[in-house]
Amino acid sequence: MLQGVWEEFSVSSDFEIVATTESSWQAARDLDQHTLLDEAADRVVAGHLHFLKKIIGWRPGPDALDLGAGSGHTTQAFRKYGVDMTASEHTDAGIDLLKELNPGMPVQKISMADYHRLGKHSLIFARELYPITRVNAFAEQRAMVDRLVDSLSPGGVLLIVGSDVYRPHCMDYHGMVREFKSDERLSRVYGPYLEPIIIRSLLSMNMVVLSITHLLLYPFTLWKRRSGWAAAYVVAFVRR
Ligand SMILES: C[S@@+](CC[C@H](N)C(=O)[O-])C[C@H]1O[C@@H](n2cnc3c(N)ncnc32)[C@H](O)[C@@H]1O
Repeated sequence: MLQGVWEEFSVSSDFEIVATTESSWQAARDLDQHTLLDEAADRVVAGHLHFLKKIIGWRPGPDALDLGAGSGHTTQAFRKYGVDMTASEHTDAGIDLLKELNPGMPVQKISMADYHRLGKHSLIFARELYPITRVNAFAEQRAMVDRLVDSLSPGGVLLIVGSDVYRPHCMDYHGMVREFKSDERLSRVYGPYLEPIIIRSLLSMNMVVLSITHLLLYPFTLWKRRSGWAAAYVVAFVRR
């Protein structure tokens, strides 16, 4: 169990602690240090959209959702590329900041830890969110992913992007993919792929090139990890 400042909160598991309190400090600190900024957000989102449209075959639809949008730059970038996306955060301070930094952008207060809206969203985007990147709680994380999959409309995609900088205290990305591979609600689960490959090299990439690139870079990835490099994974769950 995590110790220290969290003891004052009446929560019972490491997962709950991270999911409820881990960013209550953010309004007070410089949130821009923890979110993608304009140009980087634009580049990353362009890569993810290419992955979604050209490789997965996703078609933009209504009610796309950016979970834990931080300062909102990723949501703005999706919207710039024509995706009907709402930004969300899980605290009042986070919502106030989103509104202040992004006047006119649709905003909603949501915690990914318990979110469930049956069949609502054509896309749920969850990038570098602490309930995934800062705690290793497979049962709770599995239940959370299950509710998010349930919240997709037909053809909808749940795109989880997360680093393993706190490994082993982060989600088991490979285990989660294995767990959902045979889920009957899903037509396919993609990944985990490395986000740097998704965002940089692929503007003409197809599935075969993506797989080969991944394979070729695997030894390099292993070597980098031995020197403390954190991998950022991309996993996509596609609804039938
Ligand atoms: C590193 S920032 C990432 C922000 C943004 N998604 C990006 O990639 O630029 C982590 C975000 O996780 C959010 N977060 C933490 N717990 C959450 C929860 N239970 N539900 C939704 N978001 C949460 C934080 O408020 C914070 O904005």
